[in-house]
Amino acid sequence: MTGTATDLSFAAWLDDRRPRIESAMRRCMDEMASVVPAELLAAVEDGVMSGGKRLRPLLLVTACEETGGRPGDALYDLSVSVELIHAYSLIHDDLPSMDDAPLRRGRPTVHVVHGVHTATYAGAVLIPWAAAWACRSARAAGCTASAARGIAAHMLEAAGAGGMIGGQALDLLSEGRSLTEEELAALHGLKTGALLAASLEMGAMASRAGDPVLRAIGDYGRALGLAFQVMDDVLDATGSAEVLGKRPSDAEMEKSTYVGLLGVDGARRRAEEHIARGLAALDDTGLAAPRLRQLAHFVIQRKR
Ligand code: IPE
Ligand code: IPE
Ligand code: MG
Ligand code: MG
Ligand code: MG
Repeated sequence: MTGTATDLSFAAWLDDRRPRIESAMRRCMDEMASVVPAELLAAVEDGVMSGGKRLRPLLLVTACEETGGRPGDALYDLSVSVELIHAYSLIHDDLPSMDDAPLRRGRPTVHVVHGVHTATYAGAVLIPWAAAWACRSARAAGCTASAARGIAAHMLEAAGAGGMIGGQALDLLSEGRSLTEEELAALHGLKTGALLAASLEMGAMASRAGDPVLRAIGDYGRALGLAFQVMDDVLDATGSAEVLGKRPSDAEMEKSTYVGLLGVDGARRRAEEHIARGLAALDDTGLAAPRLRQLAHFVIQRKR
């Protein structure tokens, strides 16, 4: 982030929000400690409390706030549930049977430290925990029992066969093949876009936003998801493992990427176009949502 007034205030805002998310993550881990054996908990904590941008919880909390909600601790707890799903996806994604990755967030991956069995369980344990946590925290945030179940179900659908896992399966099946941009967009819409969009929609659901706002937030989220992935490909092609904190690279795994299809400059332009589309969805419903707009720019300006 550079030094203009807007950027500085966005940075200060991030500095306020991220510790609140980390505290909520800590509350969740502390509660898990009373149920999960210590050895498994250590692996879970390595996968969950290892940094990361916390983009999904940020989107959830911000969507709630900018559609009329007033996020308190319970809403931050709700935001943890999407990060748990994300953390599980990364723990499993790094396994030898998937990307066989040795490095994540600048650290050895969970299976490298704790072994494949424990890492597999550590990922698995997070899925039902995230669902129950979402239900409970949405209730605590003031949602009715039925709305809370709806929010949790929405998250699970986005994480499932018609969302993240479906995209992950396509991703693995597509290794070594050249995909068209349409195929790539369909894959990433599922693998990355679905959970990003769901995070935003869950925040808007918690603020009891009406259907037009929910639709706009979802459209913004899907466009943001594609922009996020295009930039992930750009960073993967242009950044080092030291800066990105992860290995292997897309090239090492023979992935189809936006950089492969469009080149670095073309991919950057495509990311800008997706962001413009996402912001237009907010405009169409008259949602000012200044922080969501800044988050969209953050997604394409980030360095890792
Ligand atoms: C990485 O996600 C996996 C993708 C969906 C491309 P993030 O880039 O959000 O990972 P962290 O949480 O910040 O490490
Ligand atoms: C991450 O996918 C896992 C899911 C989103 C399901 P990637 O394999 O593309 O992400 P990185 O590059 O390892 O972070
Ligand atoms: Mg992968
Ligand atoms: Mg991977
Ligand atoms: Mg990638």
